[in-house]
Amino acid sequence: MTVNTVPTQPIEGQKPGTSGLRKKTAVFMQPGYLENYVQSIFDGIGGVDGQTLVVGGDGRYFNDTAIGIILRMAAANGAAACIVGQGGILSTPAASNLIRVRKADGGLILSASHNPGGPDADFGLKYNGPNGGPATEAVTEKIFARTLEIDAYRILAAGAVDLDALGVSDLNGMKIEIVDPVTDYAALMEKLFDFGAISKLFQNGFRMRFDAMHAVTGPYARDILENRLGAASGTVINGIPSPDFGKGHPDPNPVWATELMTEMYGTNPPDFGAASDGDGDRNMIVGPKSYVSPSDSLAVLADLAHLAPGYADGLAGIARSMPTSGAADRVAEAKGIGIFETPTGWKFFGNLLDAGKATLCGEESAGTGSDHVREKDGLWAVLLWLNILAVTGKTVTEILTDHWQRYGRNYYSRHDYEAVDSAIANDLVEALRAKLPGLAGTTAAGLTVSKADEFAYDDPVDGSHSANQGIRIFFEGGGRAVFRLSGTGTEGATLRVYLEQLETSPDAVHQDPQLALAQIIKAANGIAEISARTKRMSPDVIT
Ligand code: G1P
Ligand code: ZN
Repeated sequence: MTVNTVPTQPIEGQKPGTSGLRKKTAVFMQPGYLENYVQSIFDGIGGVDGQTLVVGGDGRYFNDTAIGIILRMAAANGAAACIVGQGGILSTPAASNLIRVRKADGGLILSASHNPGGPDADFGLKYNGPNGGPATEAVTEKIFARTLEIDAYRILAAGAVDLDALGVSDLNGMKIEIVDPVTDYAALMEKLFDFGAISKLFQNGFRMRFDAMHAVTGPYARDILENRLGAASGTVINGIPSPDFGKGHPDPNPVWATELMTEMYGTNPPDFGAASDGDGDRNMIVGPKSYVSPSDSLAVLADLAHLAPGYADGLAGIARSMPTSGAADRVAEAKGIGIFETPTGWKFFGNLLDAGKATLCGEESAGTGSDHVREKDGLWAVLLWLNILAVTGKTVTEILTDHWQRYGRNYYSRHDYEAVDSAIANDLVEALRAKLPGLAGTTAAGLTVSKADEFAYDDPVDGSHSANQGIRIFFEGGGRAVFRLSGTGTEGATLRVYLEQLETSPDAVHQDPQLALAQIIKAANGIAEISARTKRMSPDVIT
């Protein structure tokens, strides 16, 4: 077969964001666009000659065609082997696991995570390194630099590759191995969790609903929850991955997982509800009439992880992204273990996990995970919750109430202003940045600012420095507002405002977070001039 060297030229805007490159599907489908970026990845990581790569995605529109192109390019660039999920399917955590168990040199994961899929929606591609985790900032920079100077890509002139037949085939000297996407992942889960205890829970009539949101976790959840753990059939809903996610928005939060929320807040709800996103790395946990915020979930899991066999020896430390609430910090303090505050994005956890400094990690954006892989992992979080419920015999509400009694409650909410004009959003951030030095001591909505700064991170393992990672305003009395622009959007800018207020009185009457945070919300809006500048009177999404 001929290897074609196709002339190309730098394409502007191929800058990877929080997790890889995300664009409208139509952008990725332009002739040569995907090819250009894939070659930039290969060049940016120093070539793939002789390497073994894991390849798979969340099944969204263009997934299989894109995998075909990637395989022909990997072969043309001299890769030794590609391990591919059957049908082109691999959840992000399963891909991370495959890279690790097969000692691959890295992987290409095709996903735009929780963003909708389809010809008019979003597509994405990210490179993960040999530790199974997202490319570090340094590698990402090299890939981006390559997009600015690339002049050709290499591709094999070959027909479509069959992604459905399990087994090994040859593509011009490169081995292609099609594997079942679930097997290795499920085996890892069986090692970490007490499947016996969880099975018994289901045998005793415990009812659960898992909403796969028409995305990649359907096959994983069916196999693990229904087949291996004996949950009633029908426990998994929306379980068949579809290219446009059933025309839905596969983001597991109360706004988008409406079917699940309606059931969990309706009459006779199941004992436990959960959902995962497009590529299976996010999770939502909800008890009967009781939504668990991701920040609280991280804190609860960190507190009780030792009840699962995989974490029986306790945790080395906990890491959370800066905008995530401080609930986990209080657990770390009580346990006398390390707590790390990182910039947004899973790539910052990799070094801490590799160095054995942290065991559990989490983000407010419904991402929780541990050192079992190098990505956040939706089903893993669900199984750890199930393990904890099985061992303690408590309900989700009891677990939460106990937690707040012991540690206090960090009221928390995130307000998103979506598709804001980029210039307006950038100006808002610039103006806020300019205000920072004079903010301490001033008041807004009756709250006094105690400190205001812009978060920067020095990686304790490799010493790398990441600046401009979010503007933080702290208020007297334990409140905080954080502002940052999303790095994963594909339309205009998304302004994220993260709001938090710590309540430590054990007698506090629990209230709706939006009420508990009302003053902070007002202060944050006032200081950043959100309504005045964006002309939006309220956020588009509140989580
Ligand atoms: C968002 C989340 C972030 C997460 C990322 C990838 O990024 O906020 O926590 O790591 O998606 O799932 P953002 O759009 O805020 O840059
Ligand atoms: Zn995701």
